Amino acid sequence: MTRVFVPRDSGALAVGAEQVARTIAREAEMRNVPVEIVRTGSRGLYWLEPMIEVETGSGRIAYGPVAAADVAALFDADLLAGGACAKRLGPPEHIPFLARQTRLTFARCGIIDPRSLADYRTHGGYRGLERALTLGPGGIIDTVAKSGLRGRGGAGFPTGIKWKTVADTAAAQKYIVCNADEGDSGTFADRMVMEGDPFMLIEGMTIAGLAVGATEGFVYIRSEYPHAIAAMEAAITIARRAGMLGKAIGTAAHAFDIEVRAGAGAYVCGEETSLLESLEGKRGVVRAKPPLPAHQGLFGKPTVINNVLSFAAIPFILAEGAQAYAEFGIGKSRGTMPVQLAGNVKHGGLFETAFGITLGALVDDIGGGTASGRRVKAVQVGGPLGAYFPRALFDTPFDYEAFAARDGLIGHGGVVVFDDSVDMAKQARFAMEFCAVESCGKCTPCRIGSTRGVETVDKIIRGEDREKNLEVLADLCNTMKFGSLCALGGFTPYPVMSAMTHFPEDFQAAPRLQAAE
Ligand SMILES: Cc1cc2nc3c(=O)[nH]c(=O)nc-3n(C[C@H](O)[C@H](O)[C@H](O)COP(=O)(O)O)c2cc1C
Ligand code: SF4
Repeated sequence: MTRVFVPRDSGALAVGAEQVARTIAREAEMRNVPVEIVRTGSRGLYWLEPMIEVETGSGRIAYGPVAAADVAALFDADLLAGGACAKRLGPPEHIPFLARQTRLTFARCGIIDPRSLADYRTHGGYRGLERALTLGPGGIIDTVAKSGLRGRGGAGFPTGIKWKTVADTAAAQKYIVCNADEGDSGTFADRMVMEGDPFMLIEGMTIAGLAVGATEGFVYIRSEYPHAIAAMEAAITIARRAGMLGKAIGTAAHAFDIEVRAGAGAYVCGEETSLLESLEGKRGVVRAKPPLPAHQGLFGKPTVINNVLSFAAIPFILAEGAQAYAEFGIGKSRGTMPVQLAGNVKHGGLFETAFGITLGALVDDIGGGTASGRRVKAVQVGGPLGAYFPRALFDTPFDYEAFAARDGLIGHGGVVVFDDSVDMAKQARFAMEFCAVESCGKCTPCRIGSTRGVETVDKIIRGEDREKNLEVLADLCNTMKFGSLCALGGFTPYPVMSAMTHFPEDFQAAPRLQAAE
């Protein structure tokens, strides 16, 4: 029976993958040809979704983007034998966007059936856990530390140090919490992992549990991700039934289980302490630190809280060794980063690459410039709190320190592209407005400052006392940067100041007022 792979990933579903799957089944039945439809995650080439693949004697052949209306013609063109037609993309691994990647974390995504533990194992799954069991807690933490892995949620904190802190804190109960709130604009890598390779996340969290002595884990998934929630719940149930979660992990005496929790729908609930409050059933308000979550986290117990991509990197690191991961990257940014190209970009999608590639290579070569065909004016990297970089900074290598040196951040790896029709004063206003709407309200610089910020940008846009208000805005940004309790208020100045610094012409008086002056 020929196997046809159709993604069940949200991005593919949004452009009709469900109808495509159903139409393929119907067409095969009508033509009396046996077909097994395997629902996968996405390969992450979103401009080609729904991208389907057919298993042939010489490997898989991809077709895309495929609409339900194309299916009959594809069968006429001998789809099941990999026949030629306008939609044929060839072997997926030869498509340049995929061929140029270094897929360590996303090696299986889009290839395996996310609801098949056997498929996961066939493609190398659970080899990391096997190795972890032979190493023991100290050996696991040492391996993670030597790999150089830094948290992929935003702050880039070394994962090995975090785990060691929790391991060294004595307590009868410890927790593993996975931050799957993925609130950053233009990001979707966490969702792709959960929908396309959920056992990898389960394996990574299980290894963390072994390392620090935790027996319970939670995955806090944003409520806007119903498909990821369903995929994780299905995978957890399968893993539990197979004895890979529960009272004993495989043949080991260690107990570890995972529960899924839906997020509360606020950006600030992605901030780790606010997330813990939300998990405890309270309002998502940021906690003052110390104590660190590693000492007193969920329900006051020592807690490892990591991003999905951080946990997802763990199985590879344990299976292949710290050096195999650390040999990729530059400086203190080791391994690979799943970069997410989004916004006004021709080839939007997931591009996993070793750290060190320049921003310009990502946007122009890999992304192919803007979808609109106009000139790229600005790129916001690192979510809504990330700086806007102009073309002049496109030589910046993707590296935590290099971005920080230019007052930017990598964050969760989101790259949002804007063409020359964007008004950067409006983007600065949006940053302040976003902060005002999403602020948890605990500290004054963020709660009040963001609202004053919106008013001040409005005055600048209207041309009221422009020079004076630009100074007020810079001063306000300084207060928010140094006086806020968490990075929501503390980093909102980055998009605002970068817009003012790199695009000063957009902060001049509106044409109407200029004419009147
Ligand atoms: C306002 C705000 C929102 C955040 N949102 C997320 C998020 O959606 N996902 C995430 O993993 N980290 C988010 N973070 C970072 C977390 O606080 C924390 O650093 C991260 O979960 C730690 O995991 P890591 O070390 O694996 O990156 C956010 C931080 C702030 C200040
Ligand atoms: S900076 Fe904003 S979100 Fe963070 S604690 Fe203060 S008020 Fe809350």
